Amino acid sequence: MKLGIIGCGAIGTDVALAADDMEEIEKIYLYDKLKEAEEKLIKRLKKGELVKNGEELIEKSDVVFEAASQEAVFEYGEKVLEKGKDLVIMSMGALFDDGFREKLVSLARKNKCKIYLPSGAVCGIDGIAAASIGGLHQVTLVTTKPPESLGIESEKREVLFEGNAREAVKKYPQNINVAACVSLAGLGFDETRVKIVSDPVAARIHHKILAHGKFGRLRAEVENMPNPNNPKSSYLASLSAIAVLKRIVSPVQIG
Ligand SMILES: NC(=O)c1ccc[n+]([C@@H]2O[C@H](COP(=O)([O-])OP(=O)(O)OC[C@H]3O[C@@H](n4cnc5c(N)ncnc54)[C@H](O)[C@@H]3O)[C@@H](O)[C@H]2O)c1
Repeated sequence: MKLGIIGCGAIGTDVALAADDMEEIEKIYLYDKLKEAEEKLIKRLKKGELVKNGEELIEKSDVVFEAASQEAVFEYGEKVLEKGKDLVIMSMGALFDDGFREKLVSLARKNKCKIYLPSGAVCGIDGIAAASIGGLHQVTLVTTKPPESLGIESEKREVLFEGNAREAVKKYPQNINVAACVSLAGLGFDETRVKIVSDPVAARIHHKILAHGKFGRLRAEVENMPNPNNPKSSYLASLSAIAVLKRIVSPVQIG
């Protein structure tokens, strides 16, 4: 399989290094709008090759991995699926745009290709997706961060936001990827509840998913360590991206 990676930052680097060791992957094409990022990564790969632009990367790849930005999803998402190539999206916040998301889904359906959305910095997405089939009644995402991660200074624990995922995105766009994944797996952006807590005692970013429905009750919590290459990115997000890649190339599908 030929893999194309758009974005050679923290996640793109982790995915490329893991892909380099996967025997099913024969070539890794890289593109980043920052030449230094591309050049730093290509030196570390055995199977890597640089391309001139996103279009060339799409042309040459079987699967395109976006690990760049929402702008990159808007710029390349449709082009990938129009060519019938599979697309993995990390910058899931772009999918809050209903019209854009529906366009991507209909292109994938028409051209018989897939859109993969890694679970990113949260866990419990498998349970939410399964539960949504048989009557999911309520889903709440509680994100707790140290105040500096939320761009504020505060010495007391306080709830900064309570509302639905769509409103959360407008007020706190830095939480969009996690909220998007939970929403898309379960009740959608209008029905998914989000609570954002600023806690000066919190040393790590903490996400908790609470859900109930016909299946029973679910509670999934994670305390994230930062990615060593980008303290704003949770390391689990990179690992979930690599897990998706393994799923794509592996004959065994777990979960
Ligand atoms: N799904 C999740 O849970 C989750 C978690 C963490 C990060 N993310 C998202 O994944 C993306 C990558 O995260 P990261 O930590 O690796 O970021 P990063 O800043 O370390 O790296 C991003 C790289 O992409 C490049 N880039 C940005 N826009 C581009 C474009 N239009 N074309 C080509 N290259 C472009 C940048 O130059 C940079 O080198 C971000 O959008 C981030 O919000 C998602």
